[in-house]
Amino acid sequence: MIRTILTYPNPELKKKSAPVAVINDSLQQLVKDMTETMYDAPGVGLAAPQIGVHQRVIVIDASAKDEPSELIVAINPVIVHAEGESYEEEGCLSVPGYAANVRRHASVVVKGLDLDGNEKSWRAEDLLAIAFQHEIDHLDGVLFVDHLSPLKRDLFHRKLRKAAEEKRDAK
Ligand code: NI
Repeated sequence: MIRTILTYPNPELKKKSAPVAVINDSLQQLVKDMTETMYDAPGVGLAAPQIGVHQRVIVIDASAKDEPSELIVAINPVIVHAEGESYEEEGCLSVPGYAANVRRHASVVVKGLDLDGNEKSWRAEDLLAIAFQHEIDHLDGVLFVDHLSPLKRDLFHRKLRKAAEEKRDAK
């Protein structure tokens, strides 16, 4: 089932998510819904709190359009190693209509569980590394706009206000 994606400044997005204790049917259903919702949007990744579920679950598919899809489901993901620097443009399904460059690590190693409860380790670079960092941030209530400099964040808020005013004036 495609779920509603919460958008900034919904306070649910600022809450910290709890670790998953058991992988049961309801968790399987959650992952199914998250995957459908991500592909429908479409987006590169989605974290459970973005649909109002505060559990540490993320889904990512960073494959290019002309490549076969490569779905990653990570439960209780933790970054265990990070190196290098990147400064690429990011967007977020919870912050529609806004994109900005964010400082991240260029490569990461992430550990977590897959849907069968097996321990997994993912070695990620480029877009996939950014996606892991972005989605794991969501589990701690952090959005990419929280990484912006004060000046850029101010611009973002002004843009938000302007969009809200335009919406109001259109009524
Ligand atoms: Ni996001």
